[in-house]
Amino acid sequence: MQGKRIFVLKANKARTDHKFHLKGLPSTGGRMDIVCRCISRALLYYGNEIREDTVFYAVLLGPPNPPKTIRIDGSRVKSLGADEISIGKMIREALKRCRGNVGEEVLVGVSVTQMSFQDLVESFAKKGCHLIYLHESGEDIRKTTFFAKDIYVFVLGDHIGLNDFDERLLDGLGAVKISVSPKSLLGSHCIAIVHNELDRRFSARSSSL
Ligand SMILES: C[S@@+](CC[C@H](N)C(=O)[O-])C[C@H]1O[C@@H](n2cnc3c(N)ncnc32)[C@H](O)[C@@H]1O
Repeated sequence: MQGKRIFVLKANKARTDHKFHLKGLPSTGGRMDIVCRCISRALLYYGNEIREDTVFYAVLLGPPNPPKTIRIDGSRVKSLGADEISIGKMIREALKRCRGNVGEEVLVGVSVTQMSFQDLVESFAKKGCHLIYLHESGEDIRKTTFFAKDIYVFVLGDHIGLNDFDERLLDGLGAVKISVSPKSLLGSHCIAIVHNELDRRFSARSSSL
């Protein structure tokens, strides 16, 4: 796990079963399009090359059976399409297969649990990871020190964002608030900026990540 980048997206409305349409990800999927874009930005380089240093979690909180937390491990997943439809298809398949296998790997590198947002962030805090809440009012990422061998967990919201309870929870766990821009951005863009900032600092050492 050394040097890992972990992203946690809270997807407030995203469906927790496979019954959504690939051509209706925003509506039938409860903004599953946001989840798909975040996965693509978190786990892919150009040319569909996978970022092995990154693990992505989406906590799905829509109907019918929340929470469902999907985990995609860049060091294990075999292939990932860059487009939303391909990623939506993979999520749909994972949600379909997880019915009797919650917690197990349902596709190579992909698992689904019923962990809540709270349980997930608390588990990272217990493991000693650096918790970072991405928020426009936080400290400028360019003034933040990162260590190549540490594990950073970047938490972000969807179009609705995090609520007061989540923010107090993160605060209580010692999360640092970090901003990637003076503007409020799309979550997927924030992920791309985080990667860019860390890649610039650690590119010479990226083989050790
Ligand atoms: C589209 S924004 C959410 C907007 C939502 N209405 C809110 O107030 O949180 C999606 C997520 O991106 C992250 N975010 C947006 N702008 C940011 C910035 N400038 N710096 C760091 N994170 C940011 C936050 O985690 C936010 O929850």
